[in-house]
Amino acid sequence: MKNSYSNIYSFNKKTLRKTINYLKNSDVVGLPTETVYGLGGNAYSISSIKKIFKLKGRPKSNPLIIHYFDLNDAMKDIIVNRYFIKLYEKLCPGPVTFVLRKKISSKIHPLSLAKLKTVAVRFPKHKVVRSILKEISFPLAMPSANTSSNLSPVNAKDVFDEFKHKVRFILDGGKSRVGIESTVIDLTGSPKILRPGVIDKNMLEKILRTSIEENKSKTLKSPGMMRKHYYPGIPVLIDQKKYIKDSAYLYLGKKYKQRKNFFSLSEDSDLDEAASKLYKTFRLVKKKGYKRIQISEIPNKGSGIAINDRIKRASRF
Ligand code: TXA
Ligand code: MG
Repeated sequence: MKNSYSNIYSFNKKTLRKTINYLKNSDVVGLPTETVYGLGGNAYSISSIKKIFKLKGRPKSNPLIIHYFDLNDAMKDIIVNRYFIKLYEKLCPGPVTFVLRKKISSKIHPLSLAKLKTVAVRFPKHKVVRSILKEISFPLAMPSANTSSNLSPVNAKDVFDEFKHKVRFILDGGKSRVGIESTVIDLTGSPKILRPGVIDKNMLEKILRTSIEENKSKTLKSPGMMRKHYYPGIPVLIDQKKYIKDSAYLYLGKKYKQRKNFFSLSEDSDLDEAASKLYKTFRLVKKKGYKRIQISEIPNKGSGIAINDRIKRASRF
């Protein structure tokens, strides 16, 4: 069924078939995942990969995450190790991405990996994307469905706002539950977190029974973690105490519930809930015409670490 936006389609048997056909023909489509919406294409097809980079305006040096249904499928392309197997068993499918060495025989197109010898693999949990992955015989290269350096989309309409009709087909799978991008962990040596997410360092350390290093390496191991990113289109000020006129003020709790221009990310001060509302609220206040976003201090623990990572980068524009 067509939505009021001519390229947003709700999920059903017919649109599932349509999506699969588009992907088989190396077309690129907007797809829901539990973290954020992605721009998916056949990871083995050069024309799909070229379309993704072009649509996003993404530098060729920034590799894409490759999405699989399960471990069995991923084994074609990656060299597994014991850390990966432990984490896979406990966390997958789920909001976490693993950087592993690529098999020489892998058919993933080198352009999607920025010519690296490693692959970032993810097993998304969202039932819509799983039903697609289950039926296709290739993995999906799928960056977040936003133009480079912008905010990731958390529903189908956000994807439309990013690309309008440049993306022919957007599959609507409701809002993304997690609301921020997956945790990226490098497992090619001793484990390192390259991008924090709701699967946090403590959870990973407990499963691996080893401590995880902070990523201090000077060479940029995750090329996508460039300084400027997650830009909502208006200035972002962090660790704010005093309200400035014409700002939208984002905070945790319900202290300012009755006050205009104040937006709670979680009335219970729950950091997972705050993460899930962050981009949604950024987009909302930008649309309402606020001049800037102020955010009160966010505790740097659990999902708060991922929130602070994103808002710090957003504030550097
Ligand atoms: O939640 C997510 O991960 C979403 C959904 C759609 O799955 N995808 C996503 O993709 O956030 P993207 O392209 O927006 O971010 C991928 C990040 C970038 O920072 C990129 O540099 C890093 O993963 N990355 C990809 N391949 C890598 C590799 N081989 N080594 C190190 N970092 C890699
Ligand atoms: Mg992204």
